[in-house]
Amino acid sequence: MLRVAVLISGGGSNLRALLEASADAGYPAHVVAVGADREASGLAHAEEFGIPSFVVPWRGAGEREAWGAELDAQLAAWQPDLVVLSGLMRLLPPASVRRWSGRLLNTHPAFLPEFPGAHGVRDALQSGVRETGASIILVDDGVDTGPVIVQERVPILPGDDEHALSERIKLVERRLLIDVVRRISTGELDLTAVR
Ligand code: GRF
Repeated sequence: MLRVAVLISGGGSNLRALLEASADAGYPAHVVAVGADREASGLAHAEEFGIPSFVVPWRGAGEREAWGAELDAQLAAWQPDLVVLSGLMRLLPPASVRRWSGRLLNTHPAFLPEFPGAHGVRDALQSGVRETGASIILVDDGVDTGPVIVQERVPILPGDDEHALSERIKLVERRLLIDVVRRISTGELDLTAVR
């Protein structure tokens, strides 16, 4: 059983989808812990599913290294095989990226390398393109620059606002995330071959 830790900042709807998938006895991965950089409302999903959670409060960019070290220590206690950044709105320090390198995933609401950064949905809408997407990547030291594991296009529909588009993208993100974690667990997907 692959051990998965998930880090969030917000509502955690993608986390919830993974928790629901892993509640199925046939699913080969298990969420062992959920962490956050604040008292995120999404932590309630962990509680509902009986999964332990922890908060390492963000203390400002000047303390990124110390924050990351504390986060690493909390994560390490759960011995995760995989760490999924699922809406964590902070950049991990390089030491943390190195520590979890090769098993650190991020979900991003755009077709990377298009529209990286914190406002991928808004940026796509404002640019006037007709489609954007969802990506799951391996995290490296850059901002959404790591190798793409899987991605899928999502159309932008007339009348879409940021909320509507974001919700439609998240439907795809959830499906991709559940499938990627499953394929990593079964060995069908080899992350060392992703570059
Ligand atoms: C997702 O779109 C994720 O890619 C982005 O933040 C969103 C998280 O949503 N980084 P939720 O907290 O899972 O609802």
